[in-house]
Amino acid sequence: EVVDASGQILLPGFVDLHTHLREPGREDTETIESGSAAAALGGYTAVFAMANTDPVADSVVITDHVWRRGQEVGLVDVHPVGAVTVGLGGKQLAEMATMASGIGKVKMFSDDGKCVDDPLIMRRALEYSSSLGVLIAQHAEEPRLTVGAVAHEGPTAARLGLAGWPRAAEESIVARDALLARDAGARVHICHASTAGTVELLKWARGQGISISAEVTPHHLLLDDSRLETYDAVNKVNPPLREASDVEALRKGLADGTVDCVATDHAPHAEQDKCCEFSQARPGMLGLETALSIVAQTMVEPGLLDWRGVARVMSERPAAIVGLADQGRPIEIGEIANLTLVDPDASWTVEGKKFASISENTPFETMSFAARVTTTLLRGRITARDGAVRATTEA
Ligand code: DOR
Ligand code: ZN
Ligand code: ZN
Ligand code: ZN
Repeated sequence: EVVDASGQILLPGFVDLHTHLREPGREDTETIESGSAAAALGGYTAVFAMANTDPVADSVVITDHVWRRGQEVGLVDVHPVGAVTVGLGGKQLAEMATMASGIGKVKMFSDDGKCVDDPLIMRRALEYSSSLGVLIAQHAEEPRLTVGAVAHEGPTAARLGLAGWPRAAEESIVARDALLARDAGARVHICHASTAGTVELLKWARGQGISISAEVTPHHLLLDDSRLETYDAVNKVNPPLREASDVEALRKGLADGTVDCVATDHAPHAEQDKCCEFSQARPGMLGLETALSIVAQTMVEPGLLDWRGVARVMSERPAAIVGLADQGRPIEIGEIANLTLVDPDASWTVEGKKFASISENTPFETMSFAARVTTTLLRGRITARDGAVRATTEA
């Protein structure tokens, strides 16, 4: 079959270090199958499925299921993320070695949705992770500073009467875990960096020779808390949408490499969990099917990144951070063909109901973007083309 790629940009397949697929437990909002379709349409060839499922992915039974099911669907490599502790935010380290040596070969552990707030547990997790050669990804939220919080603490939340989530809730954990990683001789990965202060702390930690990496979400690159004026819960997310000055600092940090990569934090939710009052709604928004378009608009169009830079933040750096051997390489002769084609002038408008995701909670509804993924290849096989996924049997 002929793929006409005239006028299109060829990139290595994208790698998402942070995806919530809701299987097991909330298959009414996303499954490994529906999430894989969303990922392929978004240009991804590998995603990391977060551990806050129900039951929690704190055992090899679950992590192996996630990997196997992803391979069965065959649209994207679904790498399981294991929970750091038994139960999210638990007090006992999970059996990371067992999960790491299972069929799912867990490479990253996280308590996303719940920060590893106990410094002693985090210290032991970091020590253990460096002996196992796996990565600890920190959700970075000091829970004693976010009790009841639903929106970024600042003038907007104050005016709207929404309980504020301070920057210090994130930054205090980033600083703490940089120091714990230093002392443990370990690496730590910061999930969804959202403040200018976090960017400064990352710079400082790197200057000290600390092995720290970080991701930023598309929504934190595009949206700020002025979106909350309407009280529409589609804009509720953890960490919250910050101020315009934070957005600017995150874009700069991604451009200069202080922030390593883009990760979606794709968080599907049912309509009934999003349509209630702002303070009651669940946090999180969809990300897989819009990520590239947002990176193009926020980073390429203003000249902060060229397409080579997009390959770095969407594919090469995330693959390197987690040590994926078969993904995220620059496009070179002899490499396995995990590839994504982007039309920089596609011009399309977001409609959540057209997503492959079961859920529709996109804050980008009705927004128009110039660039769009047209084609995705996983190990040489077309998995998505012109808005439709290709099941394995059709290949
Ligand atoms: O907004 C969020 N949603 N942040 C998280 O940390 C978890 C996620 C979810 O699972 O819905
Ligand atoms: Zn999180
Ligand atoms: Zn998350
Ligand atoms: Zn849908």
